[in-house]
Amino acid sequence: MSQQPKSKNITKISTHVTRQDRENMLGQKGVTLWFTGLSGSGKSTVAIEVDRVLTERGVACTVLDGDNVRHGLNSDLGFSPEDRNENIRRIGEVAKLFTEAGVINLTAFISPYREDRDRNRKIQGNGDFVEVFVDAPLAVCEARDTKGLYKKARAGIIPEFTGISAPYEAPDKAEIVLNTDGESVEQSAAQVVAYLEEQGYVKQ
Ligand code: ADX
Repeated sequence: MSQQPKSKNITKISTHVTRQDRENMLGQKGVTLWFTGLSGSGKSTVAIEVDRVLTERGVACTVLDGDNVRHGLNSDLGFSPEDRNENIRRIGEVAKLFTEAGVINLTAFISPYREDRDRNRKIQGNGDFVEVFVDAPLAVCEARDTKGLYKKARAGIIPEFTGISAPYEAPDKAEIVLNTDGESVEQSAAQVVAYLEEQGYVKQ
């Protein structure tokens, strides 16, 4: 769903300061690390750890998380397939703005539909979108049940719950795969940081 603006008579402006200028100033290259995975897989936990490690090194980062964004920007959206599409579409646009500002932007959304993630990959330039599959089996996420939501979903109290009564489409071309049931948060975060260094987004 590539949307044409509803508004008429709108003209794009450009700035004197380029993206390259911003990246040179920061000494890093903007990118969106798109964490995807089941609820309880560790998306936010690892993103928050990467944010901590990099910020300590003086790298400019930001974190966009599903539970947080649904309290603000996306407080009008629920969990129907259409609302999830719109949730991910809006975050894709926000992510693009951060990326173009030269920031290492960490997003943590279930983003269960491959098509939605692929669309966000497309709206960002080549290399600006790095998919991070947080690959913890459903049984592990359900056993963790950190927020007690799986129990409610099994009891039918929460409808359309991802993995239980709503689908999750695993990525088939993620740049990074994290097996969070077999490694520590620090190990997963180190894997992400190593990727950013190898690919030249941040200095070694
Ligand atoms: S997404 O599917 O649209 O990408 P998002 O990442 O924003 O989801 O929000 C997921 C979070 O909302 C979960 O971590 C969980 O805490 C909460 N949640 C509440 N209801 C549901 C539901 N029906 N399915 C999945 N997560 C839910």
